[in-house]
Amino acid sequence: MRQAGRFLPEYREIRSRHGMLDVIRTPKLAAEVTLQPLRRFDLDGAIIFADILNPLIGMGIDLDFVAGEGPKIFNPVRNRDDVARLAVPRAEDNVPYTLEAIGMVSSELRPRGVPLLGFAGAPFTLSAYMIEGEGFSQPAATKKLMIESPSVWNDLQAKLCEMLCDYLAAQARAGAAALQIFDSWVGQLGPAEFGRFVLPHLAALIRSLRERTDVPLIYFSTGSAALFSSMKELDVDAFGVDWRQDLATAQSLLGARALQGNLDPVLLLSPGEYLERAALDVLRAGRSLPAHVFNLGHGILPGTQPETVARLVEIVRGFRE
Ligand code: CP3
Repeated sequence: MRQAGRFLPEYREIRSRHGMLDVIRTPKLAAEVTLQPLRRFDLDGAIIFADILNPLIGMGIDLDFVAGEGPKIFNPVRNRDDVARLAVPRAEDNVPYTLEAIGMVSSELRPRGVPLLGFAGAPFTLSAYMIEGEGFSQPAATKKLMIESPSVWNDLQAKLCEMLCDYLAAQARAGAAALQIFDSWVGQLGPAEFGRFVLPHLAALIRSLRERTDVPLIYFSTGSAALFSSMKELDVDAFGVDWRQDLATAQSLLGARALQGNLDPVLLLSPGEYLERAALDVLRAGRSLPAHVFNLGHGILPGTQPETVARLVEIVRGFRE
């Protein structure tokens, strides 16, 4: 979860010389940044360095990562013509550098028994960025479009699902040991709109992905506890969950699947006894589940001290109860 993030000085050093998209587009740099956290910490996995948004560039979306502001889309998608103009590129043409970086990193990690995760954004979360364009606290234009123009919405979802299925399957072929789908904004939806406008497309994406790859699939979302009982029907191997719901309740709503999570990343800003107790609580809760992968509930925050992460890894490694 943003493990390279902005918190490692060695990452910031590379970023001071290269733009975000340059790092993503240069396999050697993407591979290097992917491996940085593993050099410092005794971690069980790595996630390839890319972003959920850069694959949209090949669809015709003009975007950049603006320093201090985050991602910005200069030609947001607003109507039928905008959706009709979107291309559905093949991963090999659209993001060959990411596939190459996956090949490089996975051949280094596989002999060490460390799995590399590939990933993509979920159709809803990608749609929200494409429609809102820049910095939003509520995906209002996105909801308006899905409700007022369901056929335009459906066409957009179909194009995204086709691109994503090909992209995720290509990552698995390139060497990714598991695939994580990030739906960071889905918690903004109520159960009715989630069920009507989002779940069918997500379920279809996961079904077609299952036909193309055998690697485990993880669905990550935040603020989405109210949607768990409908998410339960998704055919994934694991759910990534945040700290807003305790693991035992999440499990009872999501069914017998592995859970990944769910320490609040903000707690890493206060190293000390509270963090240690909270991490142990997550580990104990995880022990009562059918399967649990210890993780943060969302991305690590800039400003987190690397020493605090090292301490957290030690706590997890030392857990024996
Ligand atoms: O952990 C990693 O570094 C792996 C690669 C990765 C990035 N983004 C690199 C990145 C992954 C898995 C993502 C996922 C991502 N990107 C999500 C889903 C997960 C989540 O955090 O909710 C989303 C919503 C995005 C979109 C995005 N990218 C935003 C909103 C921002 C700016 C805000 C921020 O946190 O900085 C980015 C930029 C981005 N992508 C950075 C990194 C390491 C920030 C650092 C930089 O600018 O160098």
